[in-house]
Amino acid sequence: MTNALSIKNLSKTYKTGLTALNGVDLDIRRGEILALLGPNGAGKTTLISIVCGLVRPSTGTVTVEGNDIVQNYRQARQLIGLVPQELHTETFETVWATVSYSRGLFGKKPAPALIEQILRDLSLYDKKDTQIMALSGGMKRRVMIAKALAHEPRILFLDEPTAGVDVELRKDMWRLVKRLRDTGVTIILTTHYIEEAEEIADRVGVINKGRLLLVEDKAELMRKLGQKQLTLDLQEPLKALPGDLSNYALELTDGGQRITYHYDTQAKRTGIASLLAALSGAGITVKDLDTEQRSLEDIFVSLVVEENQ
Ligand SMILES: Nc1ncnc2c1ncn2[C@@H]1O[C@H](COP(=O)(O)OP(=O)(O)OP(=O)(O)O)[C@@H](O)[C@H]1O
Ligand SMILES: [Mg+2]
Repeated sequence: MTNALSIKNLSKTYKTGLTALNGVDLDIRRGEILALLGPNGAGKTTLISIVCGLVRPSTGTVTVEGNDIVQNYRQARQLIGLVPQELHTETFETVWATVSYSRGLFGKKPAPALIEQILRDLSLYDKKDTQIMALSGGMKRRVMIAKALAHEPRILFLDEPTAGVDVELRKDMWRLVKRLRDTGVTIILTTHYIEEAEEIADRVGVINKGRLLLVEDKAELMRKLGQKQLTLDLQEPLKALPGDLSNYALELTDGGQRITYHYDTQAKRTGIASLLAALSGAGITVKDLDTEQRSLEDIFVSLVVEENQ
């Protein structure tokens, strides 16, 4: 089975000499939701712009359902819907006219029933005769999504779909994205909201300075998230850990004042109770304790910070 999207060794150096993408390899499966996380300037929009044929790559190839984006540009572009990061919405056109026109741009026959369905799904149908410029920001964003869907794309790019969007609309958007995925549309979205990736992504990719640092199933990342750290502040400093505690992976820090212990919250037995009993048996008194959960945000920050050093 071919992938929805296959990106090989993709690089982009702009005329300014800035390398925005550097050797990116990425396969996107049919029908998945992939969230691309990365700080400002990481190269997310550049990647999307290349796939959509708006920016020319310096090296590498991209195929969309097997169609090369340069050699078979028309076929490839037909399959893609794009909701860009920057919205251009200062128009007198009505919602209905704008969305219908977008479909026409791809040479597709008018399909009023489909346009109506899209507008209904986005809670825009009662605004169909309103001029775009008279809509609120959140509604304009929905119109952009409706436009991107009007030609029935198989792959949808959402470049920061929920930036500046209120909680309610964000949740609507998540529901819509999942519903689209369930109809077989492949979705790639960029976001700065890690909870958004946690909520809707099947896989998560992290990009920084033009390099793809990680692509992983969210479930696998969540398993890593299951890691917790227990910190024990001791009444009296220890010179060394007693030998009978060696079957726990413990660390002694802060001049012997502190013990840290990493454990898996998903595991049936975390070993905390027996650890505390063993400490007490060894005559070690705990003054205070604290636990900390590793989040996707920590993983993201540590990856990006590590790379920047
Ligand atoms: N047309 C251009 N000419 C020169 N440099 C560009 C151009 N477009 C983007 N860049 C640079 O390429 C780098 C990547 O930009 P890009 O827009 O892809 O980042 P991004 O990950 O989408 O960031 P953000 O989260 O802020 O949207 C940045 O350093 C940016 O300044
Ligand atoms: Mg961007």
